[in-house]
Amino acid sequence: EQPVYILAIETSCDETSVAIVENGTRIRSNVVSSQVETHRRYGGVVPEIASRQHVESITWMLQEALEQADVRLEELSAIAVTNGPGLVGALLVGVAAAKALAFALELPLIGVHHIAGHIYANQLVQPLEYPAVALVVSGGHTELVYLESEGKFRIIGQTRDDAVGEAYDKVARALNLPYPGGPHIDRLAHEAEHEIELPRAWLEGDSYDFSFSGLKSAMLNVVNQSRMRGEALQSAQLSLGFQNSVIDVLVTKAMRAAAEFGAKQLILAGGVAANRGLRAALAARCEEIGLPLIVPPLSLCTDNAAMIAAAAFLKWNKREFAELDLKAEPLLSL
Ligand code: KG4
Ligand code: ZN
Repeated sequence: EQPVYILAIETSCDETSVAIVENGTRIRSNVVSSQVETHRRYGGVVPEIASRQHVESITWMLQEALEQADVRLEELSAIAVTNGPGLVGALLVGVAAAKALAFALELPLIGVHHIAGHIYANQLVQPLEYPAVALVVSGGHTELVYLESEGKFRIIGQTRDDAVGEAYDKVARALNLPYPGGPHIDRLAHEAEHEIELPRAWLEGDSYDFSFSGLKSAMLNVVNQSRMRGEALQSAQLSLGFQNSVIDVLVTKAMRAAAEFGAKQLILAGGVAANRGLRAALAARCEEIGLPLIVPPLSLCTDNAAMIAAAAFLKWNKREFAELDLKAEPLLSL
């Protein structure tokens, strides 16, 4: 039988990526071009610059993905693309490229929700078991997702202000650490001998939502006060305090959701899954109750197109195709 080759494009933020995945699980190529160097001097992603870079990269990356996969255009089965949520100008580049390919090759077009991509990245490693709970944490997302069955999931909690990675990057900037600051805070936290305690935002009673802006302000206040007093910054102790607050809230809510929804697996995804403290804390809590914790390799946790192809394969099986008027939707809901 002919293999199903899905070519997927991801341009929702600052990574341009094109991948070809065979039968939903076998990665034939997954080319990722990060713009992090470009955005570093601005201390964050500049949307207009991101769009322009996607335009410059997309054509050669399509060629590169086909070459690396050793798959010819005529062998492709479908074209998939992230059509939201994300930066509208960035999404538009991928959506336009995908539509052009689908039209020219007369192939079905599949629109994929970015978070579905993060979740189904796991299918590239091992099959998911349902029900499951996923914690998606990155520079743009902080979501707790309940996966009832294949293709059926809903967001049960999300951030009301900053995404986790965004909060990390902002406090890192206040400590004069380079962008993206998450890994630096993580490293400093591990070097600290004691923490400067910072508040936790639990929100109302049983809410699964998150808020990190209060924590961020609390930390920035401490930094400003010590600057005003001319004291040296206690960067490591502050990093540990910040990290402990973030992890405490993320882990507590994820574990409560896993219990409430009878999860058979807890899935961790997104760039912040790289955080050593978060992984260790989740692993310890899951081990205590015998709940399998699934964390895809980091290359599949950060934004990439293979995860979009994996999610698209489920839609392929159900023949859930998009029309050629598919739109980039910055606020697309699950
Ligand atoms: O998924 P990702 O590569 O890009 C998107 O945001 O879509 O995630 C990047 C985010 C950045 O905010 C970065 O600071 C954060 O993940 N990050 C970390 C760590 N490694 C990356 N945050 C905390 N600890 C880390 N070790
Ligand atoms: Zn992402």
